[in-house]
Amino acid sequence: MSFAIAIDGPAGAGKSSAAKKAAESLRFVYVDTGAMYRTIGLYMLENQVRVDEEEALKAALDRIRIELKYEEGVQRMYLNGEDVSDRIRTPEVSEKASVVAAIPAVREKLLNLQRDMAASQDVVMDGRDIGTNILPDAELKIYLTASVEERARRRYQELIQKGEECSIEDIQRDIADRDYRDIHRETAPLRQAEDAVYLDSSDMTLDEVAAEITCLAKERM
Ligand code: DC
Repeated sequence: MSFAIAIDGPAGAGKSSAAKKAAESLRFVYVDTGAMYRTIGLYMLENQVRVDEEEALKAALDRIRIELKYEEGVQRMYLNGEDVSDRIRTPEVSEKASVVAAIPAVREKLLNLQRDMAASQDVVMDGRDIGTNILPDAELKIYLTASVEERARRRYQELIQKGEECSIEDIQRDIADRDYRDIHRETAPLRQAEDAVYLDSSDMTLDEVAAEITCLAKERM
């Protein structure tokens, strides 16, 4: 029997960093499901697919082959055989990912891929609907959040460190827009599962969040 940890929450709450760290200490596989939506978003952007036209969208989805590979323990995303792990991290792709993630056919395409990954191995999977929809029987569910201000501040620091120019107001607005779309969409909206542990990371360090998740998992093993 495999053990699954589902971590959901809004953008920028620190899910992926904490999930990665917890997965490392538990020797579980970390699965970043947001990267899958980003990969589909990238394809739609680069191929100028009109995602609001059903036929065009379906035809495009049929042409997309997504693979996750682990290279030295790090998840890499492949789109039709090409490593796109770095290209899916731009603001344009973030925006498009959030748009395509609201489309039922897109979610349908990724559902089995995500479930299969959790069926065959111990995983820490992060996203928006993992505890509520993808893995409703996960052994541990976490709803990880932080205030919009704190999430924007963290993202701002990250970008500044990379030498990118940005304004904290723009980042805050982008985050609030994405939250709105993720929470208000009809299909698999972002919400806390009833049996999820609520964690607010606003005043916690990354290490503290990862340690809390690891500790909760060990209690249930
Ligand atoms: O976590 P992220 O920012 O990389 O996710 C990109 C987008 O994909 C985001 O707008 C939410 C969406 N997403 C989703 O709808 N369901 C998931 N399980 C993961 C991400």
